[in-house]
Amino acid sequence: MSDLTVSDQIDNVLHETRVIAPPEAFAAQARVSRERYDELYRRSLGDPDGFWADVAGELDWTTPWRQVLDWQPPHARWFVGAETNIAHNALDRNVARGLGDKRAIVWEGEDGEVRTFTYSQLLAEVKKAANALTALGVQAGDRVTLYMPLVPEAAIAMLACARVGAVHSVVFGGFSVSALADRLNDAQSKVLITADAGQRRGGLVNLKANADEAAKNAPTLEKMLVVCRANCDAPMQPGRDVWWRDALAAADAEHEAAALDSEHPLFILYTSGSTGKPKGVLHTTGGYMVGTYLTTQTVFDLRDDDVYWCTADVGWVTGHSYSVYGPLLNGATVVMYEGAPNHPDWGRFWDVIQKHRVTILYTAPTAIRSFMRQGDDLPGRYDLSSLRLLGSVGEPINPEAWMWYARVIGGNRCPVVDTWWQTETGAIMLTTLPGAHPSKPGSAGLPMFGVEPAIMTHAGTELGPDEGGLLVIKRPWPSMFRTVYGDDERYRRSYWEEIPGVYFAGDGARRDADGYVTVIGRVDDVLNVSGHRLGTMEIESALVAHPSVAEAAVVGRPDEVKGESVVAFVLPQVGYEVDPVALRAHVSREIGALARPDAILIADALPKTRSGKIMRRFLRQLAAGKEIQGDTSTLEDPGVLERLAATPFV
Ligand code: WT7
Repeated sequence: MSDLTVSDQIDNVLHETRVIAPPEAFAAQARVSRERYDELYRRSLGDPDGFWADVAGELDWTTPWRQVLDWQPPHARWFVGAETNIAHNALDRNVARGLGDKRAIVWEGEDGEVRTFTYSQLLAEVKKAANALTALGVQAGDRVTLYMPLVPEAAIAMLACARVGAVHSVVFGGFSVSALADRLNDAQSKVLITADAGQRRGGLVNLKANADEAAKNAPTLEKMLVVCRANCDAPMQPGRDVWWRDALAAADAEHEAAALDSEHPLFILYTSGSTGKPKGVLHTTGGYMVGTYLTTQTVFDLRDDDVYWCTADVGWVTGHSYSVYGPLLNGATVVMYEGAPNHPDWGRFWDVIQKHRVTILYTAPTAIRSFMRQGDDLPGRYDLSSLRLLGSVGEPINPEAWMWYARVIGGNRCPVVDTWWQTETGAIMLTTLPGAHPSKPGSAGLPMFGVEPAIMTHAGTELGPDEGGLLVIKRPWPSMFRTVYGDDERYRRSYWEEIPGVYFAGDGARRDADGYVTVIGRVDDVLNVSGHRLGTMEIESALVAHPSVAEAAVVGRPDEVKGESVVAFVLPQVGYEVDPVALRAHVSREIGALARPDAILIADALPKTRSGKIMRRFLRQLAAGKEIQGDTSTLEDPGVLERLAATPFV
């Protein structure tokens, strides 16, 4: 692990003292009161088997479990021996309990088109899609990659995979050809589901062209299923490519969900780590289902008539757990919006809320900060009175943004939940419950049921109130990931051996005397840009892959809107000149636009120790325009910092 910067990062968030009680009207009707939380939380730790068996018992299983948890550290099996199907629980089960005519998905395209699916209609589509996958040769356990815009077919495809037991791997539509190819190969995917194009800011993103390029380097790929989102004129390769609508039209309407072992893999989702290539986070069926079901219900205080909108794309874990699985398992009405938040202008989210009478909004601090910059007028022009609850996820939310969100969007009437979790945790781990707990802006809050957090030193010593340290989780939880796909060694090493015996989250945090946990940020070489994880190593490898770059170091710089932005220090290859425009385009091509450096410094040397280790701490200070602080005596070349400080960013 690199030099820890927890204390460097402790800023005014930790001096925040405001405490905001849940709005009374909300608390009076909340699903979970303070007393109920205490009672349930106590039971979830004292009698975890009983607690989780009760929650799981609200869902359908075709075979009951023999054992709730089998914990062979660091490997957990939940609901051992049981069989179930998450798509059945999200769809058939809800239709069977009378929700067939309730709206499951209300989708709005960037161009304003609206498509609605009731639970019965969604089930019918998923059944056909499941049969279509089977017809393409997909069997339980096979990997299916999705590279799609945010259209209803993305959710339908995920649920269809789950229905037949295929393992989906969703690759965000903003990722590049090579990122897609890497993920197809790592998962050894047999089928790729994509679309001709997606709509973004009034233009088209040609997903099929990227998919075709990636497919050239993906030998395991046999078939491509293509949704028509734009104009259906994508070139189709005979024998390999099939239009989604043709495949569904030819498919049988009846389909019985496969009874799958509770530990049957449900999905792989790639995320950045501190070293090497992105890791395939593997989630399985039963535990993930129970975890997302319970957290969606309690954290969002779900009621029958809610209109729930999580703005995340299905390319991220938030889109998996809280746009698709969690809300649909609960029979909620889910809003999906395809496009950009600023198309045609920054009022678009408020327009979606007004039009569909959204009651619960779950979005990211980076979006909130962008809206805040536009001022209070724009949201003021829309009727946001349908909202009753707001959520935040993906990165620390600064208290000012929290207050703005509560006041301007929530009209001081809606509680705000700041939810901490990760791709690896599958479901929300730390939050306040909206009717039970006061909020402390900037602090995520208390553990969810069954979650036992602690703050530790790297040596494994537990720290007391208000001491900054590393966030760990002391026991397994149902929705935890089970391994890094194809690299169990990395699973052990990165998560369970960093501090032996506990789950190491990679975040710095502190906990106050009331038990509220404030998460400060990553302590490893992982950046959080607009709520998305990027490994500095990944960007560095992309940079050095360019002929003009000999060496590169990437660090984050605090950014008012994005949280962090990417800053690259590059050393030119002898005989080459670095062209910043070309280099940025190159990073976009290698990884995706998200990873494109905001600032580049063309350096004549990097600050290294005598043993050759780059001292990123100094690069972070330079990137932020700060004075150099700390011990510079270990630098091999003592003049390097001065020269770097005198060089402008380009
Ligand atoms: C990292 C996980 C969880 C879904 C979206 C991101 C940061 C996430 C919070 C929060 C402070 C947060 C952490 C974490 N993070 N939520 N409420 N407060 N930090 O998932 O891409 O796996 O990233 O996001 O640093 O480790 P992810």
